[in-house]
Amino acid sequence: MSSKSQTRYVPPKLRDFSPSALDKAAEKLLAALEKEWQAVANESDWRSFRDHWMARKDGVLTQINELWLKAAPKDAKREVGQRVNEIKKRVEDSAQRGENGYKAGAKARIADSDSVDISLPGLRRPIGAEHPIIKTRNETPSVFRNLGYSVEEGPVIETDYYNFEALNFPPNHPARDTQDTLFVANQEAKPQRERLMLRTHTSPVQIRAMERMKPPIRIVIPGKVHRNDPPDASHSPMFHQIEGLAVDTSITFGDLKGTLDHAMKALFGSSVKTHFRPSFFPFTEPSAEVMVSCFICGGSGKRGSDPCRPCKQTGWIEILGCGMVDPNVFEFVKHNGYDPKKVSGFAFGMGVDRIAILKYGVDDIQLFFQGDVRFLEQFG
Ligand code: DAH
Repeated sequence: MSSKSQTRYVPPKLRDFSPSALDKAAEKLLAALEKEWQAVANESDWRSFRDHWMARKDGVLTQINELWLKAAPKDAKREVGQRVNEIKKRVEDSAQRGENGYKAGAKARIADSDSVDISLPGLRRPIGAEHPIIKTRNETPSVFRNLGYSVEEGPVIETDYYNFEALNFPPNHPARDTQDTLFVANQEAKPQRERLMLRTHTSPVQIRAMERMKPPIRIVIPGKVHRNDPPDASHSPMFHQIEGLAVDTSITFGDLKGTLDHAMKALFGSSVKTHFRPSFFPFTEPSAEVMVSCFICGGSGKRGSDPCRPCKQTGWIEILGCGMVDPNVFEFVKHNGYDPKKVSGFAFGMGVDRIAILKYGVDDIQLFFQGDVRFLEQFG
């Protein structure tokens, strides 16, 4: 290689730091790297190749660090830095190839270009990971499956009847306003109960299931729901819920409390406590919100000397809505054996995304839906 040493690559000073000029300069450098690498025929060639490119004093890498990166104006630093890093990696890979080959006493490069260079690293095949929402969505039903519940699903595009009317939200009732509904366009010609919308909760599947299955019934219903909420760190127009419904001849509020207390302990750890607080939902009476003692700070409201953010220092996290099925709801499915004088039941609904946010310490719900591999691979 010594005879070719006059033609060895010398990095130019850069005047133009635009991305296209940087691309050109990087291209020239990499072409020279490849050419000089091709000319390496023995161990001493390889050493001189390595020193020319990598020597701490005056090697090409050191030089481009000075001439390109340090000389770059502030606003071009990022671009230049990126390219310098790529180049560094390519140079180091070449040198490594040589080292591997010569250390083993073999020639790193086999002259015949048709043959395979066995010293090259193999193709990496990334292994997929379950999405954190899917993971959480699957864990919850499995807790209930152990209690004898089965899993049901229903349509995401729903009618007014199932999303509202049969759940005891009468037409024009103000409780509908709480649901921030996304309506399907051009439905005005239809009778109100047939008009389509994106379901705002998984509760309509309660009605669909009771129409198909006679009591007793115990089901959980995971699914996608939509609300007209502008996206921010804690809101997304599309999110996920898990609904539950149990109906039999003598179900009481005690059954509801026992079941949910058990489920919360199975999901968040046996040491969590539950707290039931009165609330309102049109389709349950009485209704409650379930608070779980904060499994991040253990209920103290503090993490060391810092305030605990997930529970807003209260020591409690609101996890779900629930209640005893309102007799008015049973009236809509009375024909299938749900006579409110004979059966009773409880229902509950919780937000999957919120639980995943808490469980994995994610600070922005949007991250779940942006498909950025750098975020998702952390769950592999
Ligand atoms: N569907 C309610 C919502 O999205 C949540 C809910 C509350 C579901 C109470 C229930 C329940 O089944 O009993 O706001």
